[in-house]
Amino acid sequence: MLIKNSTKTEQCEQAMPKPKVYITREIPDRGLNKIKQYFDTEVWPEYAPPPKKIIIEKVKDADALVSLLSDKIDSEVFDAGPKLKIISQIAVGFDNIDVKEATKRGIYVTNTPEVLTDTTADFAWALLMAVARRVVEADKYVRTGKWKVAWHPEMLQGRDIWSATIGVVGAGRIGYAVAKRATGFSMKILYYDVIPRPEIERDFGAKKVDLDTLLRESDFVCLHVPLMKETFHLINEEKLRLMKKTAYLINNARGPVVDEKALYKALKEGWIAGAGLDVFEQEPTPTDNPLLKLDNVVVAPHISSASYETRSQMAEMVADNLIAFFQKKKPPNLVNPDVMKVRPL
Ligand code: GLV
Repeated sequence: MLIKNSTKTEQCEQAMPKPKVYITREIPDRGLNKIKQYFDTEVWPEYAPPPKKIIIEKVKDADALVSLLSDKIDSEVFDAGPKLKIISQIAVGFDNIDVKEATKRGIYVTNTPEVLTDTTADFAWALLMAVARRVVEADKYVRTGKWKVAWHPEMLQGRDIWSATIGVVGAGRIGYAVAKRATGFSMKILYYDVIPRPEIERDFGAKKVDLDTLLRESDFVCLHVPLMKETFHLINEEKLRLMKKTAYLINNARGPVVDEKALYKALKEGWIAGAGLDVFEQEPTPTDNPLLKLDNVVVAPHISSASYETRSQMAEMVADNLIAFFQKKKPPNLVNPDVMKVRPL
């Protein structure tokens, strides 16, 4: 389909209607323009997500759907979209999509891994440094006129990052990139993963330990696991009680990996020193979430991959996955390869 240098067959193909794509939000131009070039494209125009009933209505005649991690894509959507062949998600995580059901129905699912790895690792570090060195508190301190004494030996003391122990929970691509940064701070690196990750051991001298040991020994616990039923509330009250009183928890993976109620108790009662959170059990998190009242918590609205460069690349990958599929090639970031048995290309 849709190729520029026209042979006869291609001319014929060009005359065929373009496949229809529904995109649930504006995505950066680099991807959007590419999609528009190849597809009959409709985009939900608002900043807020489309209600589910809109997605259901729009998939009725869509061949493809571009989804965000906040869109729930399940049987209800699949039932409504008899022509739906591919879901191209603009995120690495895809816990919002019922992939098993999609596979059964022959619907391809793709994501945007790798391009966001370093950007996301940078942000884990931004949270880590902000909470350990009290950057947000210090900013407020200056702006609200609390800075009345030029310098005091006990003003806004935090915790050292350099030479501390970092515990990486989930040592896939992002966990690896977080550990890489830790070497620049002369840190001891522990990791926990369900599979051995020889590359993080070989490259950064990281030591594999069980989760309880990691929690007991780390000064910074960084979560980099996908959300699955095995990782739901992986960090609960029992696990938080294992951590050092001086330790920090950093979560820019998925909110439900941490039991937020238990985390609040841990922070309020001083079982741990602080937390850096880019993700929440409910997003957006309600403004009355008690965690937001605590000074030892640094928060962000799920923006770990939000750099101009990375979001543009993610948008382009979304386009490339769609284009490959409709050119009968395996999409480069297919998350359910078994689907090819159900609907061969
Ligand atoms: C963001 O959280 C992503 O999964 O890409």
